[in-house]
Amino acid sequence: MTRVSFDVNGETHQLELDTRTTLLDALREHLHLTGTKKGCDHGQCGACTVIVDGRRINSCLTLAVMHHGDEITTIEGLGTPDGLHPLQAAFVEHDGYQCGYCTPGQICSAVGVLAEVKAGIPSHVTADLNAPLRLTNAELRERMSGNICRCGAYSNIAEAISEVAGRSA
Ligand code: FES
Ligand code: FES
Repeated sequence: MTRVSFDVNGETHQLELDTRTTLLDALREHLHLTGTKKGCDHGQCGACTVIVDGRRINSCLTLAVMHHGDEITTIEGLGTPDGLHPLQAAFVEHDGYQCGYCTPGQICSAVGVLAEVKAGIPSHVTADLNAPLRLTNAELRERMSGNICRCGAYSNIAEAISEVAGRSA
């Protein structure tokens, strides 16, 4: 067991954890923030995506003790039912989900995508590294490719993210 302390959604938490506890299990089982979902638990589906120090990560692939002092944002920290984050509102507007299980991970990942594009970070499909980066359809699909939707709501998810990207461009 070891002590670990990190900020989650603006609140500092101190936990006494088995060093083998993943960040995902720390969030869900210890802090009871069940918005972050466990899909595969193997880094293959993206359901567990959260934002750590401004970058999106798969929380099932990292140990909680590696995040001592970090700032973590989960879906619960992005908006409220009365004050939705623009991406949350766009997912509702564009019907970007069916069962909703993948949705928290999709939205946290999309937050990361928008930040990457704003920062000019290229992806595998960026053709011209000197041109200003735009979230084209190909860029969006590549960057969101780690977030699987079993319900196949991809076209509506893409529309929701594109709308927010267009608005913030
Ligand atoms: Fe983490 Fe699937 S639960 S990637
Ligand atoms: Fe059901 Fe994506 S909405 S898995």
